[in-house]
Amino acid sequence: MQETSVNILGIETSCDETAAAVVGDGRIIKSSVIASQNKLHEKYGGVVPEIASRAHIENIYPVIAEAMQQAGVGEDDIDAVAVANQPGLTIALVVGVTAAKTLAFAWEKPLIAINHLHAHLQSAMLAEDNLELPAVALIVSGGHTCLYDCESPLELELLGSTIDDAAGEAFDKVATILKLSYPGGPSIEKAARNGNPEAVKFPRSMLGKDSLDFSFSGIKTAVLYYCRGQDMKGENKVDSMTEKQIADIAASFQAAVVDVLVKKTQRAAERIAAKTILLGGGVAANNQLRTSLQQMCDSAKSPKKLLIAPKQYCTDNAVMVASLAYHKFKAEFFADLTLEPKASG
Ligand code: KG4
Ligand code: ZN
Repeated sequence: MQETSVNILGIETSCDETAAAVVGDGRIIKSSVIASQNKLHEKYGGVVPEIASRAHIENIYPVIAEAMQQAGVGEDDIDAVAVANQPGLTIALVVGVTAAKTLAFAWEKPLIAINHLHAHLQSAMLAEDNLELPAVALIVSGGHTCLYDCESPLELELLGSTIDDAAGEAFDKVATILKLSYPGGPSIEKAARNGNPEAVKFPRSMLGKDSLDFSFSGIKTAVLYYCRGQDMKGENKVDSMTEKQIADIAASFQAAVVDVLVKKTQRAAERIAAKTILLGGGVAANNQLRTSLQQMCDSAKSPKKLLIAPKQYCTDNAVMVASLAYHKFKAEFFADLTLEPKASG
């Protein structure tokens, strides 16, 4: 195991993954353990907070113990305990926060509070030695869609966010309409591979020419109307559709969402004269989004470097928590044992 001077134990329980990781000096990943709850929430087509919380309680200590064991470290090797305490489901966050406070107290280590969304964009910086700033960061997850002006890992200004559904939420809801499996993002992407992205003209909501906010509820409703008729009284045509027709809807929906995400990111990048674009969050695993953003960066008037989170660190994980915590550790931004979970970010 590589020698590192600062080892941080990161803990993540903001939604439906119980995760712990040990990261050295902000980027040497010594372990990453994730207990996914996808199977538990599958039949509801979305995350059920009470079920998520109960599963976190069952998983949290085994997951932390495994992360410590895989990293080959004991409490004496850990310099700080970091936890995502916002935003997220409060009854899920509280499990990680309580575990982190307990360990920080028992081990007499500093406690570091991490914003889950800021941590997502840290995943995009993991492998980069020479980050050129300012950067525009696009965070697209199941619960959030945000654009940030990033001046440093600890200096983030929110430029815009969704006024209704998050991008990942739209993928999940449209997958439910199309009777595809949960989570919706990967199954829509898979179905879309055989579809024509121009088959159905779904609306692209830009919210005015200067807006950096997003709205995805309109496109979700458009897919619903397409499948059930404008008055919603028609039978759900999905049951009688061919695989190709479903693939066309999935591809057209995906193309519309990606189009909006890329155009808004471009708009934000022009506004702050960004040198770099950062992409993170669960939806960043989407290949169409990754490719389209790359094309936008390559063809921009002043080319921009695109940094995308590695696929295994796009969805929720604790590496991103421990990695961002390193910057807070160096700046001595510590929390105390009164730390509470917060639903908003
Ligand atoms: O970041 P994340 O793990 O959890 C939150 O913080 O919300 O993101 C989960 C979201 C889900 O909505 C899931 O459908 C979406 O990310 N997602 C994708 C893909 N993989 C996961 N969306 C589009 N394409 C994908 N390949
Ligand atoms: Zn997330």
